[in-house]
Order: sequence, then structure tokens, then C-alpha cells
Amino acid sequence: MKILVVGNGGREHALAWKLLQSPHVDKVFCTPGNGGTATMSGCENLSLSVEDFAGIANTVKENDISLVVVGPELPLSLGITDYLQEQNIAVFGPTKAGALIESSKTWAKELMVEAEVPTAIAKTFTDSAAAKEYILEVGAPIVVKADALAAGKGVIVATTVSEATSAIDALFSQGFDKVLVEEFLEGEEVSVLALCDGTDVRSLWPAQDNKRVGEGDTGKNTGGMGAICPAPIATAEIMAKVNSDILEPVVKTLQKKGINYCGVLYAGLMITKAGEAKVLEFNCRFGDPETQAVLPLLETPLEELLLACTQKTLGKQPALKWRSQSAVCVVAASGGYPDSYQKGYPISGIEKAEKDAIVFHAGTVLKDNQILTSGGRVLGVTGIGDDFNSAIESAYQGIDKIEFEKIYYRKDIGHKTNKA
Ligand code: AMP
Ligand code: GLY
Repeated sequence: MKILVVGNGGREHALAWKLLQSPHVDKVFCTPGNGGTATMSGCENLSLSVEDFAGIANTVKENDISLVVVGPELPLSLGITDYLQEQNIAVFGPTKAGALIESSKTWAKELMVEAEVPTAIAKTFTDSAAAKEYILEVGAPIVVKADALAAGKGVIVATTVSEATSAIDALFSQGFDKVLVEEFLEGEEVSVLALCDGTDVRSLWPAQDNKRVGEGDTGKNTGGMGAICPAPIATAEIMAKVNSDILEPVVKTLQKKGINYCGVLYAGLMITKAGEAKVLEFNCRFGDPETQAVLPLLETPLEELLLACTQKTLGKQPALKWRSQSAVCVVAASGGYPDSYQKGYPISGIEKAEKDAIVFHAGTVLKDNQILTSGGRVLGVTGIGDDFNSAIESAYQGIDKIEFEKIYYRKDIGHKTNKA
């Protein structure tokens, strides 16, 4: 079987890598892909952009591709699934209506209220004066969120009222016309990626990512500097409640709205001190870098699960099989990220690193037989071990062998887990 993966990040390399481990998958195309998918055996990059729906549909037909797996939120929110489904192409990823769960925080919040899932209290504003008045009334800490896809830059966790009111001014002046002001939740964050076929839902092992650029979770927010799986804080008891009180009611409520949600429902959760899981956000796709830590532990062939989602037979699949091991993914970034950084530096040491760990490419490109940096997050190096200590050791033994100019990575990924 041939499969097409849409996207070019570390997540897409991990998806292609995992799909190719199945004896039933002969070939994976990745569009536009990266240096990792260009050099992985069995994988071929195409030069179509993620927004070229017609080009993607033609390629699927010409190459007899059985399934399209969409990585990023952008093409989903633009309706890639609707377009391909109209041409009878099997797609894993929700329709434009389903992708609203990520692309509109107001819509998602209304859905959560309707489904009665635990989440932070929030109010939506289209007017900055009213938003500020509300902030003065409720006080800080408080969270201000833009109501649109903002590539991780639309959320401000304000510790003071003046920080929150400045955030309101900043978002309205950047052109966002709707802003949410949300209750601040305290606790530990967990990412649960769940596979859905529209009716049934199966959560993957819980993961945690480190969003801040600096060690000890300090500094600016990034796309994610590392991830671990399975997150020890999300106990079996908590996961059972996440399934029954969050994921299942959300899928039912989507169904009530006429949305047949086929894809990943990614719940970004805060686990409070009292052990309650509350939803911070939903995403309509696999997480990055969580996927690079979750998929290496999954034993069940991924294409079986994704195809079952497109055929609405997920409920008939046997229980997911997992390696009873731990995974730690450390992201190697370009110095300067998440602010400005240089591109085009040659990368060396990947083969040596692969003796200790799995090297997933993110912002890389293959040019004249050389892998070069081409983005802020360059590689995700995943170590696997029987416990977190050995997974951390493998990941760092791997990443320490990688060199490119101005390489930066956090030295404390998995550290909290390690000590726990
Ligand atoms: P989001 O894009 O909604 O996940 O927000 C990005 C990050 O902001 C989250 O991963 C949290 O670290 C933080 N955050 C968002 N909402 C809240 C909240 N209600 N309380 C505390 N932190 C939050
Ligand atoms: N790692 C966070 C995300 O994928 O949104």
C-alpha cells in the first residue's frame, strides 16, 4: 500500500517512519517533506505545497495511493479533507468544520460547554474596552487568547492586570477581531492524542511537551523543545476519566452537530493538584514534538488504525499494543529560535547519533547530498529505554553527536520525570 503524508515537520517524518515499519506499507510519499523524509528508505518527497489540494488529488490518483494523512492544522482548516473526500480519496484528518476545534477558540469553548467537559471559564470579546473592564473585575493571573490560528503566538498567560490589558491592546492592534479572556489554571500539562473515526475514540499514550525555550521551563514559548511519553502524571485512573468525561462527550457533541470527526483529537490538558483533568485547548492533528515520542512506543501498525478511522471501524480494532518502554525526544534548534535565526548550515553526526537514538528531521533540507538546516526546530532526537533514565541517556548520547552552527537544545528534557 502507498500512503501520502502532508507536511514537512518532525511530526511528518515520525508519521512516515512509523507507517513504513508496517509490512503492508510499500511506499510513503511526503509533500513537501524535509531532509529526513528525502533520505529515508521507502519514502519520496514531492514538491507540492500543503495548500495545493488539486495537485495532491492528482498525485493520489496517478500513483494509486490508498490513504492521505494530513499533519499540520493549516491545510485542515482550509478544507483539504473536504476537497479530497469529494473525490473519494481516503483522508485521515478532520474536515474544515471539524478543524474549527483548533482554528476557533470561541467555537471550541462553546463546544466544550455544550459537551459539559471540564475546562477554564472564558469570555469572548470583540471590543477592547469591554475586555479590559472584565480583566479589572476578575484580576490576575489571567489568560488572554486570540480566536484564530496564531502559530503559538496568540496566547498570553498574564501574571498582572496590566500585562493582560496590554495583551488585549496588542492582539486587537495585530488585527485579531475576537479575543478570549480565560481563567488561569494551575497544574501540570499533558497532551492526549486520540484517534477518532467520528463515533469511536482511542487515546494514545499520554505525552508531555516542554514548550518554553529555556531550561527549567523558562523563557519564550516555542512549538516545543522536547517531549516525553508516557507522561507519569496521567495515571490510568486519570486517563479513564479523560476518555469518559472529555473525549467521548466531545465526539458525541461533534456528531450532534453533523461533524463526522475522522482524525486526531488532541486534548491539551491541565492536571490540577486535585488530580482533575481540565481542557486548555483542542488541536485537530498530531502534536509536534509529542508524535516523535509517542509513535516509537506504539506496536500496532499505524496504517491499520488510520484506515480504520477513515472506514469508521475503529471500534472493531483490537486493543492498541505498546512497548512497555519510555521515550524522550529532545529538539535541536537553531540558535536564536523562537526569534530570528539563520538557515542553511550543514548538519553532521546524524549517522553516529542514530546508533543511540532515532533522529527525526524537522527543519532540514537535502541539497547537493548534504543535509542543511532550514528551520527553527531542526531535529528531534528520540531515545527509547526501559525506564526514563535510560531513555534520557540515549536521547542525549544521540543529540550530543550532532553538530551544526549555533545548535541549541535544552539539557533538562525528561528531567522532572527522571527525578520523580
Ligand atoms: P494553548 O495554545 O491554548 O494551548 O495555550 C498555550 C499555552 O498557554 C498552554 O500550553 C499553557 O501552557 C498556557 N495556557 C493556555 N491556557 C491556559 C490557562 N487557562 N491557564 C493556564 N495556562 C494556560
Ligand atoms: N506541541 C504542541 C503542539 O503540537 O501544538
